[in-house]
Amino acid sequence: MFLESTREVRLASRPTGTPTAANFEIASTPVPPLKAGEVLVKNLWMSVDPYMRGRMVDRESYVPPFQIGKPLDGGAVGEVLESTSPRFKVGDVVLHQFGWREHFVAADTQVHAVDTRLAPPQAWLGAIGMTGMTAWTGLTRIAHIKAGETVFVSAASGAVGAIAVQIAKLQGCRVVASVGNEEKAAWLRELGADAVINYRTAGDLTAALKAAAPEGIDVYFENVGGAHLEAALNVLKPNGRVAVCGMIEQYNATEAPKGPSNIALVIMKRLRLEGFIVSDHWGAYPEFVALMAKWLAEGKIQTRETIREGLEAAPDAFIGLFRGENTGKMLVRLS
Ligand SMILES: NC(=O)c1ccc[n+]([C@@H]2O[C@H](COP(=O)([O-])OP(=O)(O)OC[C@H]3O[C@@H](n4cnc5c(N)ncnc54)[C@H](OP(=O)(O)O)[C@@H]3O)[C@@H](O)[C@H]2O)c1
Repeated sequence: MFLESTREVRLASRPTGTPTAANFEIASTPVPPLKAGEVLVKNLWMSVDPYMRGRMVDRESYVPPFQIGKPLDGGAVGEVLESTSPRFKVGDVVLHQFGWREHFVAADTQVHAVDTRLAPPQAWLGAIGMTGMTAWTGLTRIAHIKAGETVFVSAASGAVGAIAVQIAKLQGCRVVASVGNEEKAAWLRELGADAVINYRTAGDLTAALKAAAPEGIDVYFENVGGAHLEAALNVLKPNGRVAVCGMIEQYNATEAPKGPSNIALVIMKRLRLEGFIVSDHWGAYPEFVALMAKWLAEGKIQTRETIREGLEAAPDAFIGLFRGENTGKMLVRLS
């Protein structure tokens, strides 16, 4: 197959505060002919994730920053159109990090086959992919949840949060979920959350969390930061644990955020706060895939997707994460 050019989304400028469409540009780029051991892939789905906001800042972190004038990258799933590799044939579905573009050529070591009999292609970006793995890692490998415990999950209707809520329920926990609107709250109740807080209308979050968990919480799965973390610190039981997964409230901040005013409770209550990055836990991914494939097949985990169509929609899909526009995983369909 001969494909002369494709399109990609580039970082046009570094955002200040919440990103805007002007921070992105769509450009054409040539598609090189294949060398030995390479694949030409057409992307079917790409992921937009909150952590990508951090990569728009020029600073050292656990992943390198995006460069102005260069394509963005991130998780995506595509179909092999052409292969000079013995490992892949035309039609194979592969998971990789060449998102934000319609096609690409890469070495066969840079893409990974996914089993679409276990879950559909886009699920490998969500429930059975990085975000589901994050939920499972935070609950089981960081917070070590136990049956009978009360777990509080923030951003609970999102890609990570909705899976965290359901895994905690499957492990026999009582779950309190926090979300940004009533429609999301209704979905969380369907998923089995025992109490749901709409943080936009709840007023005092500590009071709302105390009402939802009168005996306190054992574990906080932290996705948001700010007032959510303060409320959790106030309501955590002695020896409580916090799996610090993300703090989305801070990602677009233009001033240094104020620390939790009640951080000293960590001492008084002997709390343990542990941050984690899912990529440090990939060794456990096969274990997670086996578990999640079984849960999905048995209908024990439900998923929703918010889907935007076409490469042009990718910047807005990304920005929408910070406006709470997604329920479940935010995805861009490229096929
Ligand atoms: N540590 C890791 O390895 C790792 C890996 C993946 C993700 N994460 C983190 O996990 C968190 C969730 O990620 P995700 O991919 O599942 O995204 P997501 O939850 O699907 O999407 C973001 C959601 O966050 C909520 N939100 C946005 N701005 C908010 C604010 N200012 N205050 C409160 N809620 C806000 C919105 O829902 P509402 O309508 O409810 O506000 C929005 O739908 C993020 O903090 C992300 O950085 C960490």
